Amino acid sequence: MNSSPLHPRRDALKLILAGASAPLVLPSRILGQDAPSKKITIGCIGLGMQGILANLPSFLGQDDCRVIAVCDVDQRALDKGVAMVNERYGNQDCKAFRDFRELIARDDIDAVAISTPDHWHSIIAMTAALAGKDIFCEKPLSRTLNEGIAMVRTVQAKERVWQTGSWQRSNARFRWAAQLVQNGYAGKIRRVEVGLPSGHFDFGRTGNDKLDGPVPEGVDYDLWCGPRPVIPFNICRFHRNWRWNYHFGGGQLIDWIGHHCDIAHWGLANSESGVGPDDRIGPLELTATADFPPKEAVWNTATKYRVECVYPGGVEFVIAGGHADIQPGAKWIGADGWVHVDRDVFKASETEWLRDIQERDKKGDLKVPLNKSENHFRNFLDCVKSRQRTITPIETAHRSQTPGHLGYIASVTGRKIVWNPETQQIADDAEASAMMGEEMRAPWKLPG
Ligand SMILES: NC(=O)c1ccc[n+]([C@@H]2O[C@H](COP(=O)([O-])OP(=O)(O)OC[C@H]3O[C@@H](n4cnc5c(N)ncnc54)[C@H](O)[C@@H]3O)[C@@H](O)[C@H]2O)c1
Repeated sequence: MNSSPLHPRRDALKLILAGASAPLVLPSRILGQDAPSKKITIGCIGLGMQGILANLPSFLGQDDCRVIAVCDVDQRALDKGVAMVNERYGNQDCKAFRDFRELIARDDIDAVAISTPDHWHSIIAMTAALAGKDIFCEKPLSRTLNEGIAMVRTVQAKERVWQTGSWQRSNARFRWAAQLVQNGYAGKIRRVEVGLPSGHFDFGRTGNDKLDGPVPEGVDYDLWCGPRPVIPFNICRFHRNWRWNYHFGGGQLIDWIGHHCDIAHWGLANSESGVGPDDRIGPLELTATADFPPKEAVWNTATKYRVECVYPGGVEFVIAGGHADIQPGAKWIGADGWVHVDRDVFKASETEWLRDIQERDKKGDLKVPLNKSENHFRNFLDCVKSRQRTITPIETAHRSQTPGHLGYIASVTGRKIVWNPETQQIADDAEASAMMGEEMRAPWKLPG
């Protein structure tokens, strides 16, 4: 995996220093992050809400990296990104690209941060992995299950360091909650509840606005649609709000599965409840129901949904949005009590557990301590240098998202899905199996 001794930059440097004809100038890719005086060079792709508000400024705030290029298919977003980078470094050096392939082709970039809509993650990430870049990529990992499977395979084969934007793993409250479960405070876990948002969040557009076109000036809409068929432009399914239409996103279930299901798995994987390792954890079977708006609605993703899974060891695992009996966040219920965590909640059936786990975490005397990260971006950069696994490696993110994809498939077919987490196949259901992937619009296809 990512901690392999094979390291393209180091190995290339060894070859050069071994006496072969040394180039006059060593590209940054070779001296890159391994040379103490060098900074990790980063290209940021996708400069919308998450890209420009969170990911780009976070990398700009770290001293051992340098953002040297940005990319967006919307000229206005691109200009904002360039201005932010140049202002931070006090120069005019930031390179601007509208086509991610040109940014990735640069030899002087060590790592990319991908904050595009979900329908672009797989192609951009796999292109970057094949080009030898390390990758920070937003959740949800993939638009389809098959894309996720292919992404894991490529990133692992190329031994790239990968961080998913599931930043809750770098928050102490979520770590303490998962540690409580992992250290057996609640006893053998028999049920897990994952509560996600319902409805659609209105990012400044109502979704009732059926107005198509025109494409805003400076936007390459063909490239924005990329592997998806080009449908008439509609501002309500463009920036930010694309996630409420199945043509591009997956609604609240798929948007949030990479947050709370990821945490639920963190507490459960490798635990005594027998659910399996974190890179293979997953349901054995599931059923699902959902309320879907009309297919032709501008926002047509499920507004209310419930996925009932059975995990190894007979653990019941429920994922729901819009069901009052399932509280937001992740809740583990075991033989000896329960633990519940959300962004503003940290509760347990025994209140003294909460202080106890924090003290033991601080002292470092936990039997199962869990990997610790206090800053998601710092953790990525540290791992780029050490070649260790990040707090949210790709295989973990893929498994966190799998029940969301399967839940969607089950809610559309209306049938029970029988899933094999080892082979990642659906048993005896050709229609459901076909829904694990979707054809891409030519000439786009998964690279490699
Ligand atoms: N980790 C979190 O808490 C968190 C929060 C919000 C969003 N996200 C994730 O971040 C991603 C982006 O979401 P958003 O809300 O910022 O969307 P957005 O629509 O606001 O921004 C996406 C940007 O990507 C650009 N883009 C589209 N195709 C591109 C391409 N081929 N090359 C370069 N740029 C391209 C768009 O023009 C836009 O500027 C999503 O995957 C989303 O799930 C994560």
